[in-house]
Amino acid sequence: MTEYSDQRYLHAKRTVDDRALNRGVLDVLHASLSELGERPVRILEIGAGVGTMLSRLGDWGVLRRTDYVLLDRDATSLASARAHLEGWADSVTTAGEVLTVKKAALEARASFVAEEAFAFMAAASASARFDLVVANAVLDLMELEPVLRAIWGVLKPAGRFWFSINFDGDTIFEPESPLDEAVMRLYHRSMDERMRDGRPAGHSKTGRRLLTAIGATGADLCAAGSSDWVVFPRARGYAGDEAYFLRHIVHTIDEALSGHRELDAAQFATWVAERFGQIERGELCYIAHQLDVFGIAPKGVPG
Ligand SMILES: C[S@@+](CC[C@H](N)C(=O)[O-])C[C@H]1O[C@@H](n2cnc3c(N)ncnc32)[C@H](O)[C@@H]1O
Repeated sequence: MTEYSDQRYLHAKRTVDDRALNRGVLDVLHASLSELGERPVRILEIGAGVGTMLSRLGDWGVLRRTDYVLLDRDATSLASARAHLEGWADSVTTAGEVLTVKKAALEARASFVAEEAFAFMAAASASARFDLVVANAVLDLMELEPVLRAIWGVLKPAGRFWFSINFDGDTIFEPESPLDEAVMRLYHRSMDERMRDGRPAGHSKTGRRLLTAIGATGADLCAAGSSDWVVFPRARGYAGDEAYFLRHIVHTIDEALSGHRELDAAQFATWVAERFGQIERGELCYIAHQLDVFGIAPKGVPG
């Protein structure tokens, strides 16, 4: 019996995201950050989870000196982020709540804020705005236009944003099953109807919606491209902890749709059991369509 853990899922997701992140969009981000010179870049990461984006941007040579705020409502994930960065770095020093981690060319002063994103951004001081806001696999869990306007409010005028791994309405499993069409339609609908703290919490077409919502809220979209997750078995099984990643995805769909009145309960239970069996035998492939975007925030006061 699998024990499910959000933190294990987020660590298992790292290699899947590594393959998926759109390198063209990332190159535009990298070039734009080099225009800022040698001073530490002030970065806010929304929904930072277990901290794998900061270590990735260090490993990939995208960041050198940075003051990096990891913001997440989940304190357990942030504790895991701190442990991950301590284990990953070549050197670690602590001053109060700030962890300074060094590895190769990266020197990051990381702080960890366990708070809801809208609340944090509403209270953020105008004198402590950010050069860059990063959000990976998180804007599709939020109401889009309000979160964009809140982000423009915490960025310096003409600050940068990089929103990656935004789900965009297509989930594919191989081998195909006759129930897939109904399961995916209802699963995507459950994302569109999801509420948290009394407000809409995401949409299944966030990726494509970003392409117009960014301009509509006064910012410039400079680069966009797909960042599909593609998970497949090799000769010796799945890479890294990706079998767990797949089990967690199937479990999430099971939790979202179990007892749904538009699904036959026995057929759905068989579908779930078959998907778990295919993971166990190294037969299941999984694709989720997603988009990455990079751009420049409004130059003046956000509208
Ligand atoms: C799918 S996970 C992605 C985590 C990380 N960015 C990554 O890609 O590994 C989404 C994260 O966003 C956080 N989150 C979701 N809604 C949030 C909100 N309104 N405020 C703060 N954090 C939020 C969750 O706690 C979770 O850690």
